[in-house]
Amino acid sequence: MGTSGRPSPFLQRNRGNLNILDLANRKIAAALTVVALTAALSCGPRASIEVPTRRQGPVEGETLNVFFTGSSLGRLKPCGCSGGQLGGLERRPAVFNSVPAEKRLLIDTGSLVETNSDQDLIKFDIIVEALGLLDYHAVNLTDEDFEIARNRGLLDNPAVRFISPHRTGETAAGFQSRYLLNNEHVTVSVLTFDPDKSPTEQIKEGFVNPEEGAKTINILIVSRCDEEVVSSIAPLGIVDCIVCPSEAEEPMIIGSPNRRPLVFSVGRYGRYICRLQIEKARVRDRFKFKFTAIPVNEDLEKDAALVDLYKGYQQIIRDSNLLERHPRYVLPDGLKYVGSQSCSSSDCHAYEYVEWMDNAHASAYATLEEVGSQYDPECVACHVVGMDYESGFISEQQTPLLKDVGCENCHGPGSKHNEKPHEVKTSEPKMTCIQCHTPEHSGDYAGNEDTFLERIKHWTEPNAPGNVK
Ligand code: HEC
Ligand code: HEC
Ligand code: HEC
Repeated sequence: MGTSGRPSPFLQRNRGNLNILDLANRKIAAALTVVALTAALSCGPRASIEVPTRRQGPVEGETLNVFFTGSSLGRLKPCGCSGGQLGGLERRPAVFNSVPAEKRLLIDTGSLVETNSDQDLIKFDIIVEALGLLDYHAVNLTDEDFEIARNRGLLDNPAVRFISPHRTGETAAGFQSRYLLNNEHVTVSVLTFDPDKSPTEQIKEGFVNPEEGAKTINILIVSRCDEEVVSSIAPLGIVDCIVCPSEAEEPMIIGSPNRRPLVFSVGRYGRYICRLQIEKARVRDRFKFKFTAIPVNEDLEKDAALVDLYKGYQQIIRDSNLLERHPRYVLPDGLKYVGSQSCSSSDCHAYEYVEWMDNAHASAYATLEEVGSQYDPECVACHVVGMDYESGFISEQQTPLLKDVGCENCHGPGSKHNEKPHEVKTSEPKMTCIQCHTPEHSGDYAGNEDTFLERIKHWTEPNAPGNVK
């Protein structure tokens, strides 16, 4: 980068791309810059400081859009179990592309996955790949994310620019990008900060102003947020925005939308994308902020590359044999699952069996096959019999009779009842509906319990309820 004199137009253009700064550890800034350049070149157009050429006349009311996501917690996309679900990495581009690429900045605040289970580690890789494809400018790593990324050798992934409050030198603590807003240069700096590890004063060092007199917008991602933290940061007078960890699914502004710094959280599971619109105010040198939480709903178009990435994820899940390796409890009293068919003999429950066959429950596994999720333990759990127990579902090949939501999901394991049908009852049909018909997976269930029960009616009247033999 040019160190003296006026930068040439060529350098200037590059500087638009080369704007990562290791704000914490300048010694390794040079090394990081090389990484940043490779990253910028390999993932298409980045925010550049070139004057947009197609614009005619005076540029009035230009807006810079900072998009925030975070706390994805492993939700690559909603399960699709019932209508109206929000989220999905594949729908994010539809939101991002609603503004021109040179007027946006994409930041993920971290908490990529929930645990370090085998499945979550696979998801971690996929989410990192997705954020690269989505061309995020910076991805903040929480402590947990950082450990996983380091263990998986992802920290120097050239497609993603990680930032984290760790001062180990493996990632930068911050990131800067320059924009043109109404023909004026504006530098947006994003810094990540852990109030439990560093003194507040260090924030000042972090937000170094790259050029005398340049207009700056300083965004701080904090790993803990409460009134004490906020009120120790605010007096520094240099932070415009504080992004807090998400305690809830919905994004929220904490305190007044007019206060500076503006304090907010982005919500969980990628259900919303937060957009901070930044405009020059009429008063010179000031900016107006407008915060919007955009629901990632089903009307948004899916991005083909991310749809393919999800298919790749399903294939990895399948190849990893997660279903076979799923931990299974022993059933009490030596009971075993035997499958719905075994209840169907003509002198027992032929009637109920035929009725059940007509229910949606009897095709619950086929539903998963249609969407390619039949090897995914997170889906299979509610679409088959007894996945969490020994003798329960393992795979279609090994346990073909335990596909679908069968008799034993509701009436309990049937082995003893089958051996001695007249002596041993199955456990009574309990109203276990809610175990699977949760608000997330069955939006219409709550409040319509009777209608749902009516729709699975497979028993003969006038049998008294609770009287299964
Ligand atoms: C083991 C999980 C599980 C349990 C327990 C369960 N369900 Fe279901 N239910 C499902 C699944 C999965 C589907 C979707 C099947 C499909 O369409 O592939 C479903 C679908 C349904 C449908 C059809 C919904 C529609 O839109 O067509 C009704 C009605 C229903 N369940 C009622 C009930 C009732 C009533 C109970 C309790 C007595 C119950 N379910 C218990 C998993 C379960
Ligand atoms: C907590 C239990 C549960 C889990 C976990 C679950 N499902 Fe479901 N699924 C249901 C229930 C209940 C229904 C029926 C919902 C209704 O109709 O109200 C359903 C329905 C569906 C449907 C049918 C929707 C339709 O209208 O035909 C699809 C597709 C589906 N699930 C896919 C998945 C996938 C993919 C996963 C994993 C990512 C998954 N499910 C995980 C309980 C679950
Ligand atoms: C989604 C849960 C669910 C599934 C699946 C299911 N049942 Fe039921 N079953 C019930 C409920 C709920 C009742 C209603 C009786 C009650 O309220 O006590 C019932 C009632 C019955 C009854 C009549 C009980 C009585 O004597 O009144 C029989 C018999 C029966 N089921 C057999 C079966 C068989 C056989 C299958 C599989 C082919 C099956 N059920 C699948 C939930 C289920």
